[in-house]
Amino acid sequence: MAIRGPRPLVAGNWKMNGTTASLKEARLIAGMLKDVRLRCDVMICPPATLLRRLKGVLAGTPIKLGGQNCHWDASGAFTGEISAEMLKDAGCSAVIVGHSERRSGFGETDAVVRSKADAAHRAGIAAIICIGETLEQRKAGQAVDVVSRQLRESLPDGSASANTVIAYEPVWAIGTGLTPTPDEVGDIHSSIRGGLVAQLGEDGSQVRILYGGSVKPSNAPAFAAIPDVNGALVGGASLKAVDFIGIIKAYI
Ligand code: 13P
Repeated sequence: MAIRGPRPLVAGNWKMNGTTASLKEARLIAGMLKDVRLRCDVMICPPATLLRRLKGVLAGTPIKLGGQNCHWDASGAFTGEISAEMLKDAGCSAVIVGHSERRSGFGETDAVVRSKADAAHRAGIAAIICIGETLEQRKAGQAVDVVSRQLRESLPDGSASANTVIAYEPVWAIGTGLTPTPDEVGDIHSSIRGGLVAQLGEDGSQVRILYGGSVKPSNAPAFAAIPDVNGALVGGASLKAVDFIGIIKAYI
């Protein structure tokens, strides 16, 4: 019997965008999905200031809430930081870790990303671990190697399909309108799948691997059709209800 693929996840990463006014987009998304029988999971990761209010907006809908980053410790003297335990307390079921904007802008190494993913698991929420190559690395033919190394070194012990999602986000495709070809995405996702099975055994085949980088309603169906693409991590297009819904439709 063929192993059924994992249930897709479409997650919106609002990044450092969103104030009270943005809750209206979330209300629209919630309204549009209210009576839909979803065949994928849907998540919104707003800035921390909106978590509580978004939790209220999403109450009674299947849409989940996620954080965008966490500290590796549970609490302590770390001014300005938020722990995975706090995200869980605010209603999150997952947190994004190792986004390229954090790796490149805030010096997060694979070891840091790994400790943050570990913190998410400790707190009882899922880690959405981001990996992806730069344009220079792709041009040098190193994409598979870079992504494989990031996967190996960012995945903590105790990772499993129930608590871990991988997001492949080529750095050069984020917010640029550029995307890899379906073949390029397929090659990377199948190498990620191979790495997951090598590290986690059979359960590695059930870990969701999302594609992220300039996903829009017009290109989402092509990505969704690629083997081992189990959903999308969406930046800009998740800020507009109509665009985010358009992407979700590729998975329902
Ligand atoms: P864009 O969809 O805006 O390219 O951003 C992708 C991303 O970084 C999601 O985490």
